[in-house]
Amino acid sequence: MGAVVVTGGASGIGAATCELLAASGVAVGVLDRNESGARAVAERIGGLALVADVARSEQVDDAMRRADAELGGLAGLVNNAGVGNLKPLEDYTDAEVDLIWRVNVTGAFNCLRAAAPLLRSWAAEGGGPASVVNVASVSGVRPTRGEAPYSAAKAAVIALTRAAALEWAPEVRVNCVSPGFIHTPLNDVLVQDEVARSGIEARTPLGRIGTADETASVIAFLLSPASSYMTGQNLVLDGGTMLPSDQMDPVLGPLLEMFGGSGSAG
Ligand code: NAI
Repeated sequence: MGAVVVTGGASGIGAATCELLAASGVAVGVLDRNESGARAVAERIGGLALVADVARSEQVDDAMRRADAELGGLAGLVNNAGVGNLKPLEDYTDAEVDLIWRVNVTGAFNCLRAAAPLLRSWAAEGGGPASVVNVASVSGVRPTRGEAPYSAAKAAVIALTRAAALEWAPEVRVNCVSPGFIHTPLNDVLVQDEVARSGIEARTPLGRIGTADETASVIAFLLSPASSYMTGQNLVLDGGTMLPSDQMDPVLGPLLEMFGGSGSAG
């Protein structure tokens, strides 16, 4: 396989993805605005550090061209860089909304546009179909209280995935992952808090918080030929959090009790 650029590769899900890809022999471009973080991950995995702000198209264009030239052809892209915030909708400032939109949506768009000719030429030169994975969120599928701009931005990332998949088939596949709660530096404060952690675990059917490595393995699956007949899809990995809960359902709960519980209902 040719090279893969991972944005937001200096931390969390991005860093875990860089490590997993490198361990399976892929040449990795670690793109991040955090220079020391990108260099540290690149050094650890023998990859190429690409210092760029995804919201700045000229920096993204340079980074993609560099990755293509120095890593021997661009076969994949992981649009993972993202930022969020948590507060009531009416308390968001213009600057906060603008940042969330520019990093999550414009940033992903800039990377897709810059990578398009490089991915296409990889496919045209016989490298096989190229593959892109965008990182959205369960918040983009169903809103999370306090994350109005982030939920809207991640819904836009899912829409962008489908639009690019349609335009770029068959040369380039474009899919999306939507993680639920994943332990990374982004939310370490919450995970360390006993009350917050047990609350999150209690509303997760699998009973625990997800890991960056578990997310990286779904991203790697979507990048690889193992998912060769998939494009335009959004894979949710959330420990079952978005499944409807029958205990919580005011109609189904009493009905199940009337029939002696879910075991005898059918
Ligand atoms: P993180 O904060 O650990 O890592 C994000 C990385 O993106 C950092 O290295 C940061 O420097 C980089 N970054 C931020 N803005 C950038 C910009 N403008 N240009 C270049 N790099 C930039 O976060 P985490 O948790 O690993 O999140 C990764 C992705 O997963 C994000 O898109 C996030 O929205 C998404 N996600 C995370 C979830 C979680 O529970 N951790 C849940 C759902 C989605």
